[in-house]
Amino acid sequence: MANRILLAPIQGVTDYHFRNTFNKFFKGVDFMYSPYLRVDKNMQLKNSKVIDILPSNNKNINLVPQIMTNKPEEFTYMSKFLFDKGYEHINWNLGCPFAMVTNRELGSGLLPHHNKIEDILEKVMTVLPIKLSIKMRIGLENENDIFKILPILDKFPILEIIIHPRTGKQMYKGQVYTSIFEKCLALSSHKICYNGDINALDDYNNLSNRFKTVNSWMIGRGLIKNPFLAMQINKVLTENKMEIFKEFHDALCEEYLQSLSGSSHLLSKMIVFWEYFSLSFSNSHKVYKRIKKATSISKYKIAVAQNCNEEKWIA
Ligand SMILES: Cc1cc2nc3c(=O)[nH]c(=O)nc-3n(C[C@H](O)[C@H](O)[C@H](O)COP(=O)(O)O)c2cc1C
Repeated sequence: MANRILLAPIQGVTDYHFRNTFNKFFKGVDFMYSPYLRVDKNMQLKNSKVIDILPSNNKNINLVPQIMTNKPEEFTYMSKFLFDKGYEHINWNLGCPFAMVTNRELGSGLLPHHNKIEDILEKVMTVLPIKLSIKMRIGLENENDIFKILPILDKFPILEIIIHPRTGKQMYKGQVYTSIFEKCLALSSHKICYNGDINALDDYNNLSNRFKTVNSWMIGRGLIKNPFLAMQINKVLTENKMEIFKEFHDALCEEYLQSLSGSSHLLSKMIVFWEYFSLSFSNSHKVYKRIKKATSISKYKIAVAQNCNEEKWIA
């Protein structure tokens, strides 16, 4: 079976503006996962999050909306809401590492409570109108939490389990426990997707050579840093990368110019992207610094032009 590439959800980065613009310029990504949706205590979804997943804002995208919750009633509410919007598949976030989330036993904060995970799934799976996949870390503080969870997940018809083999405590840094991922492959009867630190073609080649039974690969930061990565994986050769990148960048910038109010909002948004983009440039430190120093849109445009004209695309 051909390998599938999934765009990872990155809150504040992979919104519908990014997803649509990415799709116009690059190929090779089969599915895109939305950053998570949550309801407030009145069971209300934030309007900006609803806008992000509306099918009308995600035309020609295979979007999988993601939810975060630890309450069965919220779980069913959000799945019905998304089903009514036309989705057939949602993803449950058991990976978010931020203390504000984990302290409430959400995201990776739910991983040490395997009985609670089982209880939630028992309550929702029979009434869920939609297919469910799970995106999880291997634990909150203990990298072995996952070994108690996989046998529970085996009892339910879960479409796929996406494993980012880090603990929540590690946040987004440090070792990815590939040996634990390997054990998970042997322990679960579900389809498993790999996620974590695929930053270049070599990383993908090494992992796909090692995990021959895996055919689903989720990539986040690597695809933002180098939007050509999925094409490289699919052996689509591209010339003039810098030119294409510049056109992509300008289209992305225009999207945000239309949707954000004021130049400071636009500049802070684009700085987040350049934290990633700059890593694909020669002199990445200098490239990022130029962008950070820009105090107006016109200065920002000059910095972008300097980056694209004076540096090389190295990814
Ligand atoms: C700033 C930031 C925001 C993220 N937001 C989400 C999110 O909303 N939902 C989610 O499941 N993962 C989220 N992630 C985790 C990524 O989806 C992914 O699992 C992680 O970055 C590891 O994959 P990568 O090395 O390919 O980026 C986020 C990561 C970062 C760095």
